[in-house]
Amino acid sequence: MTPADRPVTREATVTAPATAPALDLAAFPPGFSWGTATSAYQIEGAVTADGRGPSIWDTFSHTPGAVDNGDHGDTACDHYHRWPEDIALMRRLGTDAYRFSIAWPRILPGGDGPLNPAGLDFYDRLVDALLDAGITPSATLYHWDLPQALQDRGGWTVRGTAEHFAAYAGRVAARLGDRVTQWATLNEPLCSAWIGHLEGRMAPGLTDLTAAVRASYHLLLGHGLAVATVRAAAPAASIGLVTNHSTVAPASARPEDVAAADRVDGHVNRWFLDPVYGRGFPADMRELYGVDLPERPGDAAVIAAPLDWHGVNYYFPVTVEDDPAGPVPYARDVRLPGLPRTAMDWPVDPVGLESLLLRLTEEYGVRRLYVTENGSAFVDRPAPDGSVDDPERAAYLEDHIAACARAVRRGAPLAGYYAWSLLDNFEWAYGYAKRFGLVHVDYATQRRTLKSSGLRYADIVRRHRAQAD
Ligand code: FCB
Repeated sequence: MTPADRPVTREATVTAPATAPALDLAAFPPGFSWGTATSAYQIEGAVTADGRGPSIWDTFSHTPGAVDNGDHGDTACDHYHRWPEDIALMRRLGTDAYRFSIAWPRILPGGDGPLNPAGLDFYDRLVDALLDAGITPSATLYHWDLPQALQDRGGWTVRGTAEHFAAYAGRVAARLGDRVTQWATLNEPLCSAWIGHLEGRMAPGLTDLTAAVRASYHLLLGHGLAVATVRAAAPAASIGLVTNHSTVAPASARPEDVAAADRVDGHVNRWFLDPVYGRGFPADMRELYGVDLPERPGDAAVIAAPLDWHGVNYYFPVTVEDDPAGPVPYARDVRLPGLPRTAMDWPVDPVGLESLLLRLTEEYGVRRLYVTENGSAFVDRPAPDGSVDDPERAAYLEDHIAACARAVRRGAPLAGYYAWSLLDNFEWAYGYAKRFGLVHVDYATQRRTLKSSGLRYADIVRRHRAQAD
């Protein structure tokens, strides 16, 4: 069956709730991008198709006990075959931008060495179809799916991986850079480094502080090296980095808790922003980690390569207290009463997004910002007619877009917002149980159904355009 023959997407029968009048859409400039985001391993499936090599997520997800319910990305949303239907969904949403990631193991199955033309052809077709649909492609070069062959040679703990990443990035940009102008190097180096190498909850599943710190260093080095290779291959490229952040508050005014909050801020925010914005790795955190960085002369400037934009992924704020006996950074999360929680048990606080956008603007001097991911998991209950009404997700979306509007009014140079996610998908260690999509996916049939949150988003996009015209 060719993609065009596949069943068409079902219509949801729920109607879009009226957009709250409080949403200040006039804050967003006329050319503001409204998009959705996904990543390769979470949606594509087809893990052995057309010469793709294994990635660390194939290995990790097939490790017993690593992922809830034994789920893996072997089929996922079968986007590799159903992408025309998924682009049609984007058109129904009325979005004008799409952030996706390119699977390194499709392009270079061994991580370096011979190119796999069929892998590049897939993204080539996707990009052409997006452009035909009037949707701007925004390509992320690394969303966690390191070729397993490179992991076998040390992964991000060794410098060679940063160099291979830059070479791969340049090769992709050479092929797609005549049509893709929006490029991100990495997605969320924090998760790759800390969750993958320190907490062990993501691939490659290590729990080793030295490995984690070295990985964080080589990820940022790889980012900087890739900025250069992408620019060389595609001079028109607009290049950014996507990092995830949380606002961090102490649970009390106790000096120990205040110090703990500063450490967590260093761990999740400053460690990944300071070096990229020319301040070097924060001295307090170097001391706390006590791990020698694999620095070489010239690296600091590479890591601080000037960027065209910065992408912020925001989901939740954190509140912490001192935990001297706990793991680095010696702080633990505290559950404050009062904030609603998503199905991930993440607290909901849109003000955190507003604060982070302003911090990037004021403290780091970022001149072009995107919200590259923002969204929520809730338990969806399809009605007997197949429609999915998800008012909590719709409210989360709208409240966070309202926070963006406030940040813009206060001076944040925000150029676009990408909702996470277009589709329900493989939510890493949580498997398929956690659904973030604006579109519901029935994994047994691969049937897609626009949720009421998707209709709400479509309504917001339409209203903004109508105002801006
Ligand atoms: C982010 C990831 C993304 C998705 C969301 C929920 O950390 O970048 O792939 O899993 O969380």
